[in-house]
This record gives sequence, structure tokens and C-alpha cells, in this order.
Amino acid sequence: MDKEFWFRRWQKNEIGFHLTEPHHSLAKFYDLLQVQQGDSIFVPLCGKSPDLVWLRKEGLNVVGIELSRTAVEAFFNENHLSGKWTNETGIPCCRGEGYKIYCGDVFKLANADLDGACTVYDRGSLVALPPEMRSRYVAHLAALLPSGSRVLLISYIYNQAETAGPPFSIPQKDIETLFGENFQIEILAEEDALLSHQGLVARGVTQLTEYVVLLTRR
Ligand SMILES: C[S@@+](CC[C@H](N)C(=O)[O-])C[C@H]1O[C@@H](n2cnc3c(N)ncnc32)[C@H](O)[C@@H]1O
Repeated sequence: MDKEFWFRRWQKNEIGFHLTEPHHSLAKFYDLLQVQQGDSIFVPLCGKSPDLVWLRKEGLNVVGIELSRTAVEAFFNENHLSGKWTNETGIPCCRGEGYKIYCGDVFKLANADLDGACTVYDRGSLVALPPEMRSRYVAHLAALLPSGSRVLLISYIYNQAETAGPPFSIPQKDIETLFGENFQIEILAEEDALLSHQGLVARGVTQLTEYVVLLTRR
């Protein structure tokens, strides 16, 4: 998708992907990330997700990136956080109270921008990216992360013939194709989650399976 697509979505508040509560799988599988208080965690394509707040409450320094400035400002405002905009690395960034949220294109981030994060929480990135961008995204993630890094990834599959993306359906075999070369892959859970995706239901989707994957960088 081009950037304008996402800017429009945020401006019109068409953000059906946004959850008002943290995703239940985050708490369920958090221990598998093997992080400690004071560590940094990277959250790509983060929106204004309540998962960011959940991670911060665990004592982590949260490093996110999100294209839309509307989203970044909403995140700080709605959570009553004081953030200060800086531009030290060339990518505008709002930081404060343990959060550092870059506002820009994930592909512009360099390893040094992650504040040492070797843990990633990724909900909803792959489904947001068109097929031709996904392998580039995964290669970029692999390049950003040192060996041993862990990624908790949440994605879903539905019948793509029922509606066109985004959000796109990501079959589990695509996870193997995309990540297999650089990551060990462990499918942790899968569940029927159609009712949590009412936007897709309204578009004619009749079945949706959400799944959770633990990826370990080789
Ligand atoms: C499906 S939403 C998921 C948001 C968030 N992870 C959540 O769980 O609510 C995808 C988000 O990625 C952002 N985005 C899309 N392309 C991006 C890019 N190239 N770099 C950074 N953010 C991007 C969009 O603006 C949107 O907020």
C-alpha cells in the first residue's frame, strides 16, 4: 500500500484494526520472549496499539515505528503521556516516559535506531503489506536483528477470494517461505477469531483463523 492509503485511513479514523484492549496472546506468550525489565522491545508498524502500554507496564523500553503522525500523536494524547518530538536520526520521533515512537517508514530504520532491542512484538504488519513488500519487510527485520533475537508475531488467514486486502490473508505456509531462511519458526497457537474482525465480516469474510508464531533469529 502506498503511504497515502495509511495517512487517509488515520485521518478518516478508519482504523478497524485498532484494539481497545491489549491482545490476549501478548500476555499469554510474553514469557517466551525472555525479556527483562529495562530491555528494549521493537514494535514495527505499531499504530496506537494498547499493546505498547502493556509492554511498557512490564518495564520494557518501547521502540515503535508508525507512518502516521496522527497515530503517534493520538497514542501519546490518549494515554496522557508527555512526549517530545526529536529528529536526531533523521526520522522524526516522539519520545517520553519509556516510549520512543518513530514516525516514518519502517524501511528507513537502522539497527542503531532500535536502542539495542533484540526482541520484537509484531501484530498486524504482514497483513498490512502487499505481497511484493512482505519479503522486503522480512529481510529488513532480519537485518535489524542479531542472532538469537525473538519475535512474537500475530497474523491471520481467511479466504482471500471473499474480499481483497488490505488487510491481507497470510497463510501459514507463507510464514515458512518468508521467515524460514533466517528464523526458526514455532507456531504457538491458532484460533477462530472471526468475531474480532467485524470489518472483514462486513466485507463478506465468513471464516478467519488468527495464529501466533514465535520466531528466533538464526
Ligand atoms: C494493520 S495496522 C496494525 C497497527 C498495530 N500493529 C496494531 O496492532 O494496532 C498497520 C499499521 O502500519 C502502519 N504502516 C503501514 N506501512 C508502514 C510503513 N512502511 N512503515 C511504518 N508504518 C507503516 C499503518 O499506518 C498502520 O497504522
